Formats: sequence, C-alpha cells, structure tokens
Amino acid sequence: MLERRPFGNTTFSVSVVGLGAGQVGENDVTEAEAAEVLNGALDLGVTLIDTAASYGLSEERIGRHLGRRREEFVLSTKGGPKINGQPDWSPGSVLATIERSLRLTQSEQIDIFYLHSCPIEILRRGDLQDTLDKAVAAGKIGVAGYSGDNEPLAFAVESGRFGSVETSVNIADQWNLRHVLARRPELGVIAKRPIANAPWRFPDRPSGHYAELYWERLQALRLDPGDMDWAEFALRFTAYAPGVHTAIVGTAKLAHLRQNITATSRGPLETGVLEGIDRAWRDIGSDWAAST
Ligand SMILES: NC(=O)c1ccc[n+]([C@@H]2O[C@H](COP(=O)([O-])OP(=O)(O)OC[C@H]3O[C@@H](n4cnc5c(N)ncnc54)[C@H](OP(=O)(O)O)[C@@H]3O)[C@@H](O)[C@H]2O)c1
Repeated sequence: MLERRPFGNTTFSVSVVGLGAGQVGENDVTEAEAAEVLNGALDLGVTLIDTAASYGLSEERIGRHLGRRREEFVLSTKGGPKINGQPDWSPGSVLATIERSLRLTQSEQIDIFYLHSCPIEILRRGDLQDTLDKAVAAGKIGVAGYSGDNEPLAFAVESGRFGSVETSVNIADQWNLRHVLARRPELGVIAKRPIANAPWRFPDRPSGHYAELYWERLQALRLDPGDMDWAEFALRFTAYAPGVHTAIVGTAKLAHLRQNITATSRGPLETGVLEGIDRAWRDIGSDWAAST
C-alpha cells in the first residue's frame, strides 16, 4: 500500500506520492485521459491532489471527474493575481479565487489553499494572512498555505501564519530543503517539481523549455543514478527528503504515476547514494537559489 504520512500538524494524512495536476489541465490532454489519471490516482492510493487556479482546465476536470469521490482525497489549490480575471493581490481577489476554486472543483471546502508565488512585499502587509484566517473560520478552506521559494518562503515559514507550504525540492533544487524546511517541522510540506521536470529526456539543452535550468544543473552536478532509472533516482531523493510529506509528480499519464508509486515503494536511497548527492551539491550547487 502507498505509504501515508501525517501532514504536519494538520488533520490530513497524505500519500507520499501525490498527483501534481498541472498537466491534467492542459488542452491537449483529453477528457478521457484526465478521467483515467484522476480516478486511477485514487484507486492506487493517492490521497493528495494538487492544482491551481492557473492550471487551465485542471480544477474543473477535478470537479467533473472526482466530484463524487471528493471525500477520498485532500485537495490543494493555489490562487493569486492575474489568474482568470483576478486583478491583484487584494483580499477581495483572493476570496474570489477561493470561491471560484470551490465551484470548479465541486468542493464544500478547499483542504489547503496556497497563496501562489506571492511576493514578499505583499506577504509583509499581513492582510492576506488575515483573509485566509477568516476563510478558515468560515469553513471555506481547511488550511492556509504559502507556495513559493527562497526568501519569500523563508519569510512565510518564519511568520507562523501558515499551516503548510508547497515548494521546489529535487536533486537539482535543494535551497528550500537545506535553508528553510528544517525550521518548522509542524508545517505540512508539499514538494513541487519533485523529479526536476525530468530533464534527462532531453539529450541536448532544451533551450527555452521549462526544464532548461534543471537540465543545466544536472549536467554540472554529474550525478549517477547507477542501476536506477532517473525518475526513480530523483523521486526517491525527494519523497524521503527530511521535512517533505508528499512529492507531487506532475503527469497526466497513469502509467507514469504507477511507475512513480512503484519506485517510491522501494524506500529512501541508500546512504552512500545520498552522500554522493550531498557532496555534489556542496561542491557545485551550494550557491544555487531555488527555481520558482
Ligand atoms: N506552486 C508552484 O508554483 C508550482 C510550480 C511548478 C509545479 N507545481 C506543482 O508541482 C507539480 C509537479 O511539478 P512539475 O510537473 O513542474 O515537475 P515534475 O513533477 O518534477 O516533472 C514533471 C515531468 O516529469 C515527467 N514524468 C512524470 N513521471 C515520469 C516517469 N515515471 N518517467 C518519466 N517522466 C515522468 C512528466 O512527463 P509526462 O507528462 O510525460 O508524464 C512531466 O514532464 C505540478 O503538476 C504542480 O501541481 C507547482
């Protein structure tokens, strides 16, 4: 059975592999494919699905295909400005995006709602944290979260105003892991981009592609997955990284999700392998900021 973990101090229990539903929202994914991966995820024991207001059709597909199974999973979504008509980082915009997510996902409550890459100067205002507290009190959301990286993440964590964070953690992106996550073990932590966008699928530099930075970093780190395939190597690093509760690999392919669950069930990477990753990071990557 897919391992489940208490999600920080929240009441949720989350599967060590979650489903990143960014890809589920893409136009070239059919309704049938979306239905298959969403239902298949629950059937395989996944209990955390992550989406966002900005992920195309994702929220509405989750509602359409899982509305009747809503009690079987923890739903995290994210919102911010300039997303589907929400004009700014005002409390009103954030409340409007919560209402929209509730409607599209056919939920009575959003289990975890993240401020999506909210800049530090907005976080310093504090009014959005008050807004989320009121949304929790009103039962619209279960837990107030912050999604982001680097200094804004550190600020959000130190503030004590959030019950959960979603942040980049992978073999090529360890700043958040090393500098922030250890500070507040009571937080529920979602590792986003957990297999570094699978940059090994590109033999040559994927110029302009989302995975380009991680491709470049993996070239520099010269890590060796040994007998494992790269996806397994990358995922076992992230899923068992200290402080991480769930690793939300993004895919709309049920076969990939199944492989990821099988790989994770093999447990943490061996100590010698982890030491090699640590050495490479300290030698080459220690100055690298997290990718947002
Ligand atoms: N909060 C934020 O700002 C933020 C930012 C980025 C991501 N996220 C969240 O994190 C989730 C994951 O991030 P991500 O999708 O950017 O990165 P990721 O999970 O590290 O990588 C996703 C890529 O890995 C491939 N993949 C998945 N399983 C595979 C397997 N077994 N073998 C080979 N390739 C495999 C997928 O390809 P296929 O499509 O071919 O399976 C996809 O291209 C997103 O869906 C989203 O929920 C949040």
